[in-house]
Amino acid sequence: MTTFVRACGLSELEEDTPKRVELDGTPVSVVRTEGEVFAIHDICSHANVSLSEGEVEDCQIECWLHGSAFDLRTGKPSGLPATRPVPVYPVKIEGDDVLVSLNQES
Ligand code: FES
Repeated sequence: MTTFVRACGLSELEEDTPKRVELDGTPVSVVRTEGEVFAIHDICSHANVSLSEGEVEDCQIECWLHGSAFDLRTGKPSGLPATRPVPVYPVKIEGDDVLVSLNQES
């Protein structure tokens, strides 16, 4: 079963400005861009760096340390040095609530 928890308010999110939240101890970056809201694990798959401190462009979030950009829809890196994807999580909007499910849908 997929359980959604509240991550933040929709009105708290500025376009292309990631917001870091902790959900059940998991760091998650919530990003509003191109008319949608995405949730991606906040730690780069290359090293222990917070992705929410990076820039958002073309539906990707860029790791500020070495420049790998991760697709907000799939979590896949667009290029080196990261080679592994970062988990992405389903998002639901209910009123002003941004809800995120940490359970990977099967
Ligand atoms: S730590 Fe993110 S690309 Fe190296």
